[in-house]
Amino acid sequence: LFTRLAHHRAHEPVVFNESIQAWEAFSHQDVTRILSDPATFSSDMSALVPSDPDIDKIAKGNLISIDPPLHRQMRGLVSKAFTPKFVAELAPRITEVTAELLDGLAGRERFDLVHELSYPLPVIVISEMIGIPSSDRETFQRWADVLLNNEPPADEPLLDALGDQVAAIAPTVREMGAYMLEHVRRRRVKPTDDLVTALVDTQVDGRSLDDDEIVWFTALLLLAGHITTTALLGNTLLCLDSAPEVVEDLRADRDLVPGMLEEVLRMRPPFTKLARLTTADVELSGTTIPAGQIVFAWLASANRDESVFTDPEVFDPRRESAKQAGFGHGIHFCLGAPLARLEAKIAVNMLLDRYRDIRVDPQGEIDFFDVHALLGAKSVPVLVQ
Ligand code: HEM
Repeated sequence: LFTRLAHHRAHEPVVFNESIQAWEAFSHQDVTRILSDPATFSSDMSALVPSDPDIDKIAKGNLISIDPPLHRQMRGLVSKAFTPKFVAELAPRITEVTAELLDGLAGRERFDLVHELSYPLPVIVISEMIGIPSSDRETFQRWADVLLNNEPPADEPLLDALGDQVAAIAPTVREMGAYMLEHVRRRRVKPTDDLVTALVDTQVDGRSLDDDEIVWFTALLLLAGHITTTALLGNTLLCLDSAPEVVEDLRADRDLVPGMLEEVLRMRPPFTKLARLTTADVELSGTTIPAGQIVFAWLASANRDESVFTDPEVFDPRRESAKQAGFGHGIHFCLGAPLARLEAKIAVNMLLDRYRDIRVDPQGEIDFFDVHALLGAKSVPVLVQ
């Protein structure tokens, strides 16, 4: 993958991919330009898929696929509930869950890090935050598998595949919607201190969120909030495994952990690319893209752009990574970034506290997510001491 991306950056920074009939942009400049201009590069793909009353509802609270001006209003509303303070207050509970998961591994020298920690930690945290039972996490995983693995084939025109995709996910979408709706209705009657209660109570300029908006916003959180963080934790281990000197530095100076995590997000961003739909003819790096086209902004390529990052192939936890685009850029910049950073920091620090040595098991097999847009492992067997 990274060789192909480097080739494009050097030779054809904007291309039309014939097999999927969509455009791709690779330079940091073009990627940030696309993500900074929602009027020309829309996140709303609903016009491309056949209408279905249940699926259409998703659009209501699904911040990620809403354009301005509605996006500004929705993001303002949810940000009032999902505040930095709300996230910071989760730290003790995240620490407790991480400790419990690692306590369960006491005495073991070999285990699957994703199965034991990187998957359960974010899904427990996000479910508790929303207020749904984390014991239902197998159901959440099944939903995530259906929704994330249902990717159009890499060699078929995207538009042809979208109709089949919608039909394939519809039953899961209905099940997920019904589950969340029941939860939202419960909270309207019986408030607690969870995020859904806060969303129910939120008001901006006399406007509050309706049931569908809360249902689909929390459904988005449930999906966006766990698989990505699972991928980040697995990717962290893979990066550290090939840079033992960085592990030594981290042991000597824990203040390097946040910078190291930004560097993992730069080198192995869980979302490798983001899709947008052009609303007008637009020029990128000298190439004109007509209106009505799908464009992929490659985060994984922007993050290794030689014109922005010196020695981009070097994993350097002291790098000034402010320009890494792993959490996106512009108005849709990841709302959950503070939570993802906090969970990963707590998990890495605790792994360093508990183990003198932790490495990928040379005899085990790493199993990667089988989705083009997602870079991460479903399974990373490790040996610990
Ligand atoms: C948006 C990445 C964790 C919630 C995004 C976007 C990216 C991203 C790239 C931008 C999408 C776009 O522009 O189309 C990640 C990564 C994560 C992570 C790499 C973990 C390492 C989380 C968590 C949550 C979350 C933990 C929630 C608890 C969201 C939401 C949006 C979003 C709600 C939509 C924001 C908007 O459209 O305004 N994320 N995310 N993410 N993320 Fe994350």
